[in-house]
Amino acid sequence: MGGTATGPRHAQLDDLTQPAGWVEAYMARFLEQRPLPRNLREAVRYALLGAGKRLRPILVIRSCEAVGGSAEDALAPAAAMEMIHCFSLVHDDLPAMDDDDLRRGRPTLHRHTSEAMAILAGDVMMGLAFELVSSRLHPPELAQRVCSELAAATNDMIAGQVYDTLPEHEGSLEPLEQLQRIHKHKTGALIRCSCRMGAMCAGADQRQLEALTRYGEAVGLMFQVVDDLLDVTQTTENLGKAANKDADKGKLTYPGLLGVEASRSEVLRLQAQAHQALRDLGDRADPLRQLCDFMAVRER
Ligand code: IPE
Ligand code: IPE
Ligand code: MG
Ligand code: MG
Ligand code: MG
Repeated sequence: MGGTATGPRHAQLDDLTQPAGWVEAYMARFLEQRPLPRNLREAVRYALLGAGKRLRPILVIRSCEAVGGSAEDALAPAAAMEMIHCFSLVHDDLPAMDDDDLRRGRPTLHRHTSEAMAILAGDVMMGLAFELVSSRLHPPELAQRVCSELAAATNDMIAGQVYDTLPEHEGSLEPLEQLQRIHKHKTGALIRCSCRMGAMCAGADQRQLEALTRYGEAVGLMFQVVDDLLDVTQTTENLGKAANKDADKGKLTYPGLLGVEASRSEVLRLQAQAHQALRDLGDRADPLRQLCDFMAVRER
């Protein structure tokens, strides 16, 4: 995020997203220190250090700061979260999944290398994420708590990919309930977890943790509703990934089920819900308020 644009609005956005650069440097350093085969390291570098928006690690850090912690306290889980996210993208793009050729404006990893390498690079990014948290976060009780949180969210993300890609016939769920279950799992779980891990690193009390959990749940679902809308309203060139893919692949999406206008209303409802969740957190949560507003109107 950020980029070369100028003007007050972009200056504010650059400020808000400044942690992206810290997390990238931290991930690059960590990766250099791991004993990996050269071609695997290159594949992971390609997947990890491309042009992602880094919204999840930014959420980890801004959530930590919102309840009195520092960015430094949250760097390890922020980097680990981006590794899990990048693993999910690499596998999401595989021929057996969404079968995509373009990601972050470049060939997908399996196109750039091979399917076998993309599978293995995804696998190792998951291992690296947990190695990072367990070895770099202190004290050990905090590392253990954050590892459990990240593991549960990763499993939920994978369950969401199963609901999305290999749905079973479950007569008991209405289409809208099915759709919410897909989105809350495949996308919402990692975003919710980002906010919770940040809070934990700051030693948040129960009330603060609950507020950030509710915020994470609202922006997590909102994020995927916006992603579905972008798929039908934006160009491939602007997105840096294929547009108009969801209908082709027969995906259950918000605009597909409810239409574009009702989906936009849902974004506004979830945006208001996220703001409401932060109502008792004071000025330190302003970056989270701004991030939520940015995520609601993003165009890529
Ligand atoms: C894309 O996530 C996958 C979804 C969960 C919708 P992002 O839009 O955050 O992708 P990057 O990290 O910026 O490439
Ligand atoms: C992605 O959902 C969810 C995960 C990667 C877990 P999508 O399949 O909609 O994401 P994009 O549109 O390919 O980024
Ligand atoms: Mg997918
Ligand atoms: Mg996809
Ligand atoms: Mg999508």
